[in-house]
Amino acid sequence: MVELKTDESIDAMRAAGRVVAQALTAARDAAAVGVSLLELNAIAHDVLRAAGATSPFLGYRPAFAPTPYPAVLCASVNDAIVHGIPDGYRLRDGDLLSLDFGAELGGWAGDSAISLIVGTPRPEDVRLIETAQGALEAGIAAAVVGNRIGDIAHAVGTVCRTAGYGIPDGYGGHGVGRHMHEDPAVPNEGRPGRGMPLRHGMVLAIEPMLLGSGRDGYHTARDGWTLRTNDGCRAAHVEHTVAITDTGPRVLTAL
Ligand code: MF3
Ligand code: CO
Repeated sequence: MVELKTDESIDAMRAAGRVVAQALTAARDAAAVGVSLLELNAIAHDVLRAAGATSPFLGYRPAFAPTPYPAVLCASVNDAIVHGIPDGYRLRDGDLLSLDFGAELGGWAGDSAISLIVGTPRPEDVRLIETAQGALEAGIAAAVVGNRIGDIAHAVGTVCRTAGYGIPDGYGGHGVGRHMHEDPAVPNEGRPGRGMPLRHGMVLAIEPMLLGSGRDGYHTARDGWTLRTNDGCRAAHVEHTVAITDTGPRVLTAL
């Protein structure tokens, strides 16, 4: 069931989303050669605490997961697509790092992700991340009253496929509200004009995941959480929580 949010609730969700943006910015600013993923997790956790917010990631256990998620941040390096668990790994020059973070404040959730390059960029990684951001922007632009879920999915998927990238089937965006994961599912590929009509008060996380080789294959790593590309290619993941309103899409997880 899809719960429509009042304008007051969307304002409250914006406050939660701002905390997400602040934590991701702090983690991005700290990400450098030699810094560990656990250090980034601690930095993001400090921002959360300072804001009086809590983590919807920590202890989260969806049906597919063998263990509760043990951190507040997902840190996915190179061939890790999403849900990388922060550990003692120290970032190396040229790593492609995707950071995914959520916050709960005042009973409302926010969810967002960024991808970045540590140190010296490879041109192909720059293109991958820029395409991911373009796919997210296209998805946001399609998040308007009068469109349907399939229009968002089609917009995201077309940008990814046109650039030659792979898309992992079975993972994508979702509704956001009092819980981080709500209905409806927001796939990263789809047919225009299909699916649920978009209405004022719907809040969606749109989250393209792009596989650099153009192949779609992925698997879950032995930790039961991390999704990795089958061929070892690098992946990018970006995400915003977006409110659909009569005056257009409102990005809730921007700074
Ligand atoms: N943004 C991620 C998603 O929508 C949130 C992962 S929560 C975690 O899948 F607990 F799995 F990290
Ligand atoms: Co999400």
